[in-house]
Amino acid sequence: MSDVRADGKQKDVKGSPLSEIGRRWSLVGKIFRDRQVDRKHLSADSSGYAEQSSTVVFESFQLVKSEVVEEDNSECCWKRHWLSINANGDKGTNVEREVSVMVRHLTGPIMFEELLKFNNTGNVCVWPAEEVLAFYLLKSQSKFTGKSVIELGGGMTCLAGLLLAAAVKCDRVMLTDGSDESISNLQLTLERNSHLKTQDVKSRLLRWDYVEDESFSDLKEQFDHVISADCLFFDEFRSHLAHTIATVLKPRGEALIIAPKRGHSFDDFVSICRSDRFKPLFSSVEVDSHFDAYIYKLSEYGSRSMV
Ligand SMILES: C[S@@+](CC[C@H](N)C(=O)[O-])C[C@H]1O[C@@H](n2cnc3c(N)ncnc32)[C@H](O)[C@@H]1O
Repeated sequence: MSDVRADGKQKDVKGSPLSEIGRRWSLVGKIFRDRQVDRKHLSADSSGYAEQSSTVVFESFQLVKSEVVEEDNSECCWKRHWLSINANGDKGTNVEREVSVMVRHLTGPIMFEELLKFNNTGNVCVWPAEEVLAFYLLKSQSKFTGKSVIELGGGMTCLAGLLLAAAVKCDRVMLTDGSDESISNLQLTLERNSHLKTQDVKSRLLRWDYVEDESFSDLKEQFDHVISADCLFFDEFRSHLAHTIATVLKPRGEALIIAPKRGHSFDDFVSICRSDRFKPLFSSVEVDSHFDAYIYKLSEYGSRSMV
């Protein structure tokens, strides 16, 4: 378990803050290695992947297309993302709905001091689970019309929540993360997206371990839907995340959490949600690795279990 210092930085009670940084580096390194394996698989299978890779920024599954449209300072770029939805699982051939947003995507090497900050995993890249979440939401658009939606741990783009807001007239969409860097980036992104169908779209810093603070009392039981992608791998935050979900959801609200299995992290989260502590709060906790036939095919292919 970790505690949080007065300055907001984490300190591992088992070791020094430096050991925490080492843990993050090794996690990021491992994930990048995993992703390279996925890319090799993809390039072996999908014609066109190789020549696209010079402009591909983060698409692991090629569910969204991105194109750099504008440079922004030396270390970051504006990119335009086109999302193609495949209705019948026949990749790339049957575009049912297309929606576009501009996202500010941080690029460039990560500075050592950046890793000293709270958590920069959402500023390293857009992770495959976020792409899958976006794809899934856009396939299920009608479910969200007129509803209030909050994305937790959406990272520097909150791509899934943003694309949902672009495509659907929700009552409101709130894009959140625990990293200041991500939230500043999201603010700039929202300023560039005036065309979203949802009128009320905001970004906000939300740390799961602080959700009981007075400053978050306005979020209590406010949302019909929680969405979140790849937020389960930090041992010290899984129960805080479950608590945050229970706190912000309206009675009979629904949370959709997409994450790779990644060791024990997914199962651990499910156990927490099914534990005596959360039983009175979550009426059911369902795990579904076949939630979408097309995604299931991709995840099998990449040796990845999406649930
Ligand atoms: C692997 S990233 C995933 C980001 C994004 N969902 C994606 O898939 O690209 C995990 C995210 O969880 C956020 N996070 C981690 N611990 C958190 C906490 N205690 N409170 C709020 N956000 C947290 C990080 O800032 C980061 O953006």
